[in-house]
Amino acid sequence: MQIKHILLYGIIGVSFILLIVGFWYRSQPNLEIGKRLVDNSCGVCHDLTSEKKHERGPYLWGVYNRPAGSSGFPYSEAFLAKLEKGSFIWDDKHLEMFIANPMQFIPRTNMGKQNSKHPTAFSGIESASNREDVLAYIKTLK
Ligand code: HEC
Repeated sequence: MQIKHILLYGIIGVSFILLIVGFWYRSQPNLEIGKRLVDNSCGVCHDLTSEKKHERGPYLWGVYNRPAGSSGFPYSEAFLAKLEKGSFIWDDKHLEMFIANPMQFIPRTNMGKQNSKHPTAFSGIESASNREDVLAYIKTLK
């Protein structure tokens, strides 16, 4: 085998390994990005601290694996109607569906609505990898 072939195969081999490592690295959730997203996208309406204050929405401290609608917050009729159809807990699957598109998961929820008192609304996080980072960070709020 000629030296240039050895070099060529070497480069292909190393690139392949870097590619795999890159995929593995990106598939790990990033807590720093998660914190930034949660502070910016959820913190406007939710208390994220152990003070557990209700703000525009219920406090999110300990929300991971908490039964939906159990924080004592005055939930909307739309939210309560969803619970009447079947109670659930905020596990990965349900949090993922809710933050991807709140209005689709709970039609007419106050989280996705604007009103004169609260001009902001939350339409969801489009990027799957951002949602993964958000979920990873939400789990640390306990
Ligand atoms: C525009 C304000 C607003 C934003 C932004 C917002 N929420 Fe909410 N959230 C609400 C409101 C209001 C409710 C109560 C919904 C209802 O009663 O219909 C709620 C409810 C929830 C609940 C249900 C909690 C329980 O006690 O069952 C979860 C979970 C939640 N939000 C997570 C999030 C996350 C995670 C983010 C950021 C990615 C976020 N929210 C961003 C306003 C918001």
